[in-house]
Amino acid sequence: MKNILIIGSTGQIGTELALTLRKIYPTVIAGYIPAAPPKGELLESGPSEIVDITNPDQIAEVVRRHKVDTIFNLAALLSAVAEAKPQLAWKIGLGGLFNVLEVAREEGCAVFTPSSIGSFGPETPHDKTPQDTIQRPKTMYGVTKVSGELLSDYYHKRFGVDTRSVRFPGLISNVAPPGGGTTDYAVDIYYAAVREGHFHCPLKPGTYMDMMYMPDALRACIELMEADPTKLIHRNSFNVTAMSFDPEEIANSIRAVIPSFTMEYELDPLRQGIADSWPNSLDDSCARAEWGWQPKYDLPSMTADMIETIRRRG
Ligand code: SER
Repeated sequence: MKNILIIGSTGQIGTELALTLRKIYPTVIAGYIPAAPPKGELLESGPSEIVDITNPDQIAEVVRRHKVDTIFNLAALLSAVAEAKPQLAWKIGLGGLFNVLEVAREEGCAVFTPSSIGSFGPETPHDKTPQDTIQRPKTMYGVTKVSGELLSDYYHKRFGVDTRSVRFPGLISNVAPPGGGTTDYAVDIYYAAVREGHFHCPLKPGTYMDMMYMPDALRACIELMEADPTKLIHRNSFNVTAMSFDPEEIANSIRAVIPSFTMEYELDPLRQGIADSWPNSLDDSCARAEWGWQPKYDLPSMTADMIETIRRRG
């Protein structure tokens, strides 16, 4: 990796990935759409370009001009928003991926496109979900993710494009907020705990989902793209996880730091339905064996760091 383009750089993973990659690699271009321009450190620390994933000519022009060799394709609508706008979710998630893969095929770029725990569905084994298993999601988000996994594998096999991917669990960060995801409650709860001491939880107790602290997620992206290709049996896409918890367990981990924290349940049926169709916990042994995946943060260490950081920023 030398000249990197991030499509969707102003979103939840994009901002932090761009800032992290800029400390390691010579050129990291922050691709954005005019509705969500880069600001602050992202804007000031390196080049940015308008790259609308639905516009293949625009992608190709930026790739050629900057001699891009690696594309991180992070443009997507998250699960709950995608249910409200399924047509747009398909246009960005699958139409956009097709555009990226075509440019990558012509210009010789490697491509990273995250998949998700959302690529699984109600018929998938929910506990220790295997790497290779039933994927029949019932959300548009999931449909685009499974289709994207297949399309990316196709471009690798048929055209030799270096496509790689991980199935991200819920990502928890104190930098850019998520938007419209089913796992977002696990970010919101920390801000509510520090600022109000109280949280209205949209999911019921016992709703287990995989989660990961953002520093681990960023390492996963970079380590997979740096991995020796001869060791990769899988490509699109690897199960990765760091922890699995339900609302009660994350609330208890917060109470270990803020004993007065309280939580009440105010269920969101859309998000509850989506969460119920997703795994309780993933088996990520293939990622560990094929490219050495290893998370660093567990629930207590993530909680301590989240609360400390939010308090420090005020
Ligand atoms: N965080 C995502 C969501 O909730 C899952 O990949 O939609």
